[in-house]
Amino acid sequence: MTDTILEVKNFSLDLRTEAGDLPVLSDINFYIKRGEFLSLVGESGCGKSVCALSITKLLPKKLAVYKSGEVLFNGTNLLEESSATIQKIRGNDISYIFQEPFSSLNPLHRIQDQMIEGFIAHNKGSKIQAIEKARYLLGRVGITDIDERLKSYPNQMSGGMLQRISIAMALMCDPILLVADEPTSAIDVTIQSQLIELLFELKREMNLSVLFISHDIALVSYLSDRINVMYAGCMVESGNVEQVIDQPKHPYTQALLKAYPSIKDDNQDLEPIPGMVPSPSDYPKGCHFTDRCVKAMDECRLSKPKLQITDASHEVSCFLYGGQNAGN
Ligand SMILES: Nc1ncnc2c1ncn2[C@@H]1O[C@H](COP(=O)(O)OP(=O)(O)O)[C@@H](O)[C@H]1O
Ligand SMILES: [Mg+2]
Repeated sequence: MTDTILEVKNFSLDLRTEAGDLPVLSDINFYIKRGEFLSLVGESGCGKSVCALSITKLLPKKLAVYKSGEVLFNGTNLLEESSATIQKIRGNDISYIFQEPFSSLNPLHRIQDQMIEGFIAHNKGSKIQAIEKARYLLGRVGITDIDERLKSYPNQMSGGMLQRISIAMALMCDPILLVADEPTSAIDVTIQSQLIELLFELKREMNLSVLFISHDIALVSYLSDRINVMYAGCMVESGNVEQVIDQPKHPYTQALLKAYPSIKDDNQDLEPIPGMVPSPSDYPKGCHFTDRCVKAMDECRLSKPKLQITDASHEVSCFLYGGQNAGN
């Protein structure tokens, strides 16, 4: 038995739009082990959410074109499974928390009904057991006046409280993997760190694997076991925190670290990355970062470098490190 619970291999996906099929994810590779906190980081528009949603085929059918690769969950390729099988896994073994609590909470239903719905649908137990579990989890995520809250509607609560409830709801079926897509980005900053501490404690307590998505590399640096850096639909660097934060190799990771306030260094001069993430219709032929890269060479414009190991599981896709051509 391997302890790798999710492995995404050579995964490419297009989004079907009126302007044609856009190559939003190119040859994505990553894995998560049991109990691991893996962060996926990159600027807005790099494909993090599309990547997270496509793991359980949550993107609308008309929009997503699964081009190649595999998404192995406990060894089963989810991309080849029926909608019925994936529905059994989603919300059960793999659950999600989104940036906006209203993405997981319906404003028209009471908290109790929403919390117990998945538990009952996935045949985890009776209604009484579901309510008991909801009460336990609400307590665990720091909600007080639980009876009152269970009877309330989402619009009667603050964003921070709703996000705690979303976390509790995501844990109702004892997931193996929790996907948290920018879960604190829409929350008041004073509450952000409390929520992150909470996620971290829950992960340890429940031996959860967490795929944590953020645009903020400084934030993920103190949370993660490993970090994957994504740029314009490609995975550009992957490694543990010491490797990616203390010895970043890819010029994009280096630029990101200079652009966000470090937790360790209060006096850091921030340097925004010039230019913008290109749209998928304008991705360059070679390395997608070429146009913004201070170290770009001729070969970077001609072909894409492959993600490859440089030392002890530290992976980078960049010709500066003798990167191989990934083909087109
Ligand atoms: N429904 C959609 N239709 C067309 N393009 C989309 C859609 N959703 C996302 N995209 C495009 O896919 C790319 C990746 O988006 P996304 O995964 O949301 O990025 P991130 O989460 O890293 O900010 C972006 O260029 C975005 O414009
Ligand atoms: Mg996103």
